[in-house]
Amino acid sequence: MTTPKVIVIGNEKGGAGKSTLAIHLATALMHGGSRVGVLDLDVRQQSLGHFFASRRAWLSANGQSAPMPDEHPLSPRLASAPEDEALDQFETALASLAGCDVILMDTPGADTPMSRAAHGRADLIVTPMNDSFVDFDALGVVDPVTLELKRPSLYSETVWNSRKRRAAESGQSIDWVVLRNRLASMEARNRRRVDERVQALSRRVGFRVGPGLGDRVIYRELFPFGLTIADLSQDIRPVAMSLQHVAARQELRALMSFLGLEADAGANA
Ligand SMILES: Nc1ncnc2c1ncn2[C@@H]1O[C@H](COP(=O)(O)OP(=O)(O)OP(=O)(O)O)[C@@H](O)[C@H]1O
Ligand SMILES: [Mg+2]
Repeated sequence: MTTPKVIVIGNEKGGAGKSTLAIHLATALMHGGSRVGVLDLDVRQQSLGHFFASRRAWLSANGQSAPMPDEHPLSPRLASAPEDEALDQFETALASLAGCDVILMDTPGADTPMSRAAHGRADLIVTPMNDSFVDFDALGVVDPVTLELKRPSLYSETVWNSRKRRAAESGQSIDWVVLRNRLASMEARNRRRVDERVQALSRRVGFRVGPGLGDRVIYRELFPFGLTIADLSQDIRPVAMSLQHVAARQELRALMSFLGLEADAGANA
């Protein structure tokens, strides 16, 4: 049995697009033929858990089939449980998914013991960030006058420490990819400034800058059905197709390819 590739979607900033990215990567990976295990470490919010519950219900109600992941739900109670208990449950959950090709974890927009542990177990950390200086702050602190980068943020340090620990313990490295999410047709000068600072931070704290995702309705409108653009086909089509879908699929494919993940972002619909 091979060891699963562990992917952690993380950013301590709330609303950066972690859960959105997690459901798209999970569904695309499953359509690509991977056996995917999912762990929702945002035990209070459980966006990932709700997504797959809706998926099961929608498929059953519509007599359709689509791939499902291996799941190991974690109790919301763990949000306030003693650290030892939460970490224990995390290890049990991880072990239960050992037969998967990929284990994908969604994390909360906060520093929790389970999220920290997850970062330490990752082969790949993917961090979405909203396309603005407000969100940039979660990765690096910018001088208010010159907008120069002053220092990495606490989250960047968390990832850095996870990397050091993992290298010391197992000699393995963690690939860290940051991508900009909800790219809008922002004023060109402002975009260039954010670009420059993301590149500067990438050199300082050592992440790769991945291809971004646009701000598109299609990334959120299928959520209530438990579906993503990777699922759409002749039979599974709860919304009308549009050019947006084609563009979104291309973005998702470019991202999967950058991450070195086998996937099928949906080609037949
Ligand atoms: N690329 C996108 N295009 C359109 N809407 C998006 C996109 N990415 C995220 N959203 C929307 O932004 C909101 C926040 O996204 P999401 O819940 O994925 O963030 P999160 O990082 O998981 O948040 P939290 O920290 O609360 O868990 C949601 O309403 C989601 O539908
Ligand atoms: Mg979330």
